[in-house]
Amino acid sequence: MTTVLDVQRFKDEHRRFAMLTAYDFLSARILDEAGIPILLVGDSLGMVMLGYPTTLPVTLDDMLHHAKAVARGARQAMLVGDMPFMSYQASAEQAITSAGRFLQEAGMHAIKLEGGGPSIEVTRRLTETGIPVMGHLGLTPQFVHQMGGFKVQGKTESQAARILSDAQALEQAGAFSIVLEGVPSELAARITRSLHIPTIGIGAGPGTDGQVLVFHDMLGLTTGKAPKFVKRYANLAEEITRAASRYIEEVGNGTFPGPEHEYSANGSGPTSKEPREEVKYGAG
Ligand code: KIV
Repeated sequence: MTTVLDVQRFKDEHRRFAMLTAYDFLSARILDEAGIPILLVGDSLGMVMLGYPTTLPVTLDDMLHHAKAVARGARQAMLVGDMPFMSYQASAEQAITSAGRFLQEAGMHAIKLEGGGPSIEVTRRLTETGIPVMGHLGLTPQFVHQMGGFKVQGKTESQAARILSDAQALEQAGAFSIVLEGVPSELAARITRSLHIPTIGIGAGPGTDGQVLVFHDMLGLTTGKAPKFVKRYANLAEEITRAASRYIEEVGNGTFPGPEHEYSANGSGPTSKEPREEVKYGAG
């Protein structure tokens, strides 16, 4: 299993690494078998899976529900649970209680939280408690109303200096890595050079130690236009539309089900409800 020590080793050995989001058992199992070292159960699930306009309505219970499913699917990846809005902002005690649930109930190995400022002290308290913390700076979606929208951050010298000093403070506080989202490439590269811990970029150019993408964006499994920084490695929305249209047509014209899809009176095949393999239900 990938650990925080491996993640540090990636940086020390100049090995770029990938992280992807996962929100359910099946995607976690597929990505895990593909060899992804880190899976993030991101609060982006609120927008991607639940149809919210922002990540703000996502609750800790929503996150734990999805995190448990991911933990049932993954075997080797490091699992990071994203602390949702209002699960850590009130106090360090609240943060420890929420983060503890990710590790204790949902089988996560680390948590992620957004922002500098008060999140720095929270990071210190969590790491002292034995809970590895991934920071998140730049375009932090939980600050959407403060930022006036999902906008690139760190374009001015003073904003850039603030993000750099927050990154250094998070490292000092014990964070094992930091996501840099929606910042200019030069700033992301500068922060990456100034830190001992790895940075993981999204919309932050090629100069970070790792990269993260949202699973559905990477697969083209979306309805709208992809942001400029996304590379689509497949076009699954088109593929699904094609398959569904064909299914609708074949049911309509009677070509499905064909003779090969029928059960005979004396034999029985598997049903979709039978377990296909041994599944571990331990983590929740
Ligand atoms: O919630 C999420 O998916 C994230 C990543 C985009 C870093 O925070």
